[in-house]
Amino acid sequence: MELNQWIYILLSLLLFVFLYTRHYKSGVPQTPKYHHELGGIKPQPKAWTWDHQEPVPYRPWHNGPYHVTMGLKNANITNWIEVDNTYLPKYRLKKRLFADSDFRPEVLQVLPGCDEEAFEALELLKDVLLRQYPSMFQLVDSHRLENKVTGDVWDLRREAETWKSFHPLEVMSLLATEDFFLLKTDEEGVTTLRAGAVCFPAGWKISQRIGHSLWQIHAGKVPQYESKLAKSMDRFFVKLPVGGSISRFNYAIDDSNELFHIHSHHNLTLDPRGSPLTLADLHLRVERQFLQRLPRTRGLLFSIRTYITPISEVTRDLELARALRTSVGSYTPDVAKYKNKPLWNDLLQQHLNEVLGEEEEGHSS
Ligand code: HEM
Repeated sequence: MELNQWIYILLSLLLFVFLYTRHYKSGVPQTPKYHHELGGIKPQPKAWTWDHQEPVPYRPWHNGPYHVTMGLKNANITNWIEVDNTYLPKYRLKKRLFADSDFRPEVLQVLPGCDEEAFEALELLKDVLLRQYPSMFQLVDSHRLENKVTGDVWDLRREAETWKSFHPLEVMSLLATEDFFLLKTDEEGVTTLRAGAVCFPAGWKISQRIGHSLWQIHAGKVPQYESKLAKSMDRFFVKLPVGGSISRFNYAIDDSNELFHIHSHHNLTLDPRGSPLTLADLHLRVERQFLQRLPRTRGLLFSIRTYITPISEVTRDLELARALRTSVGSYTPDVAKYKNKPLWNDLLQQHLNEVLGEEEEGHSS
């Protein structure tokens, strides 16, 4: 054999060993990116308890004009699920809503054909919770997951009785504080909502959006969706790779701290007969959204975590208060209408004037 043939064989061998060791570790087949990321999850320290964890104070605006944008940030599964001191009250509310036959269709909708995706999503959540919150979650045996905070023990085998009464997305929703959705993209590149467990909707009903495409969900409602978002969103959903998770935030000023909000609260006008709002009614509602592709089924798993904070608490930080004034002041008329600005703006501006002082008055458009 000639020298260059030997070199060729040697290089092929090296390449094979390199690929093999990347793909298989300790004999276990792996989807490289996915398992690598799970391994990056840091367990909460032993002393950590959910009830001492304050919610992360996300304040997704800046001291500049407000723009409707996709606003996507690269994310990682290591910071997908957050647990804080709202965990148990939110769990109790979710449990009540799922158990009530009047509300169940408003919080859980599932179309046929996404069982595999749902079980894969649940498996992923289980892996994350066990790694990240070992003081809250543990395996009782190979297939039963115990939630030490709620006392629930979930038999997660496919043949378990669990699925006679619960859907996997519902179990996910009762394990975590997030709302969960499954979406799938068809051969024409159209992504539709196939399932959702959503106890904290911000003014919409899953029963009216299930089976809808991204276009049907957003168009005619979300300002500038058609002109600024639709095309890039569709492309983005088709192309999102496994391990390429993203997060995005939105914020709204709400007239209550209600978490389960199925009545439309967009494009509202002032009701002169309604009782006037007070500062105590005004709350900041932030959504932290997270999108990832499931490695095995390639379904899209979308989650939303909702944070509600009294406005008077948010504006204790004067920089944030100033920036909020700028952001709200720059809403275009369509955004102002969508976000019900006429409903709360006077009250908010009066409050901002109080906290920011007289010298800054006059920015209240
Ligand atoms: C890249 C992903 C996405 C982007 C950029 C996006 C963008 C938006 C925007 C700009 C709004 C207006 C509220 C706001 O955020 O300020 C909105 C509302 C909404 N989005 Fe999305 N969205 C995305 C994914 C999804 C997904 C996967 C669902 C499926 C459950 C969804 C369901 C909704 C619903 C139900 C509303 C409320 C619409 C209404 O007011 O009736 N979005 N979205």
